[in-house]
Amino acid sequence: MKEKIRIVDLHKGFAGKTVLAGVNLSVYEGEILCVIGKSGSGKSVILKHLVGIIRPDSGDIFVEGVPFTGSDEMTRIALQSRYGILFQGAALFDSLSIYDNIAFGLRRKHVPEEEIARRVPELLGMVGLRGIEDKMPSEISGGTQKRVGLARSIAMKPEIMLYDEPTTGVDPITAGSVDRLIRKMRDDLGITSVVVTHDMKSVSRVADRVAMLLDGVIVFDGAPAELMASGDERLRQFVEGRAHGPIKVA
Ligand SMILES: Nc1ncnc2c1ncn2[C@@H]1O[C@H](COP(=O)(O)OP(=O)(O)OP(=O)(O)O)[C@@H](O)[C@H]1O
Ligand SMILES: [Mg+2]
Repeated sequence: MKEKIRIVDLHKGFAGKTVLAGVNLSVYEGEILCVIGKSGSGKSVILKHLVGIIRPDSGDIFVEGVPFTGSDEMTRIALQSRYGILFQGAALFDSLSIYDNIAFGLRRKHVPEEEIARRVPELLGMVGLRGIEDKMPSEISGGTQKRVGLARSIAMKPEIMLYDEPTTGVDPITAGSVDRLIRKMRDDLGITSVVVTHDMKSVSRVADRVAMLLDGVIVFDGAPAELMASGDERLRQFVEGRAHGPIKVA
C-alpha cells in the first residue's frame, strides 16, 4: 500500500511538559486509521501537527514524500488544501445558514454561484440530509451539525480527512450513522482517513488499522483484531475501559 502520510520522530512539549516524545506513524492511501489513547495523551495535538496548526519541537511529517514541516509557506498551503478536518464539535459558523456554511469554502475558491447552488444539495444528500439549507446551526441537533460539518469538508474535495472524536457527545444511533459516513467517504471517494477517538465501538466499526498513543509514543500499531486479542495489560485496560491497571488515570 502507498504511504500517504509519514510522521517521523515527532516531539512536542508545552511549557516544559512533554506531550509527544518521538511519535512514528504512517497512514496508507485509502485506509481508515484510528488513533486511540486516554484524554490528554496528545491525540488532538498530532492532528494539529498534520494540518500545520502546531509546529513540532523536532521531527518531520511527510505527505506523499513531500516534507510538510520546515517547508515554505506555499508548499504548506498547498498541502493543507489536501486535508479536510472535522474538529471536536462541528465548528459551524453560528451566524451563517447551513447553505452558507457549506458554500463558504467554495466561495473562497471562487466557484460560481450557480455551481454552488447545484452542489450544496448534492453534498447534503451525501451525508443523508435534505431540505435544511435555510436553517441556522442552532436549529439543528449536534449530530446533524456534525454531518453538515462533514459535508462542508467534503465540498473541498480533500484527499485526507481528519476526524477528531466524531462520535463523542452524540447518541449511539447517531454515532453509528457517523461511523457509516466515515466508511462511505472512504468507499465512495477513496479518502484516506485518520479518526481520533476513545470510542472502542467506533474503532471496531471503522478501523482498518489502530494506533495507540501512550506516554508520548505509539505503543501499538496493528489490526483491530490484534488489538482486541493483545495480552499487553496497557492495551487490555484501555480496550476494557478499566480504571485500574498500568495506565494511571490523571
Ligand atoms: N496549544 C496548547 N498549549 C498548551 N498546552 C496544550 C496545547 N494544546 C494541547 N496542550 C496540552 O497537550 C496535552 C495533550 O492535549 P490533547 O488535546 O492533544 O489531548 P487529547 O489526547 O486530544 O485528549 P482528549 O481525548 O481529551 O481530547 C494536554 O495536556 C493539553 O493540555
Ligand atoms: Mg482531543
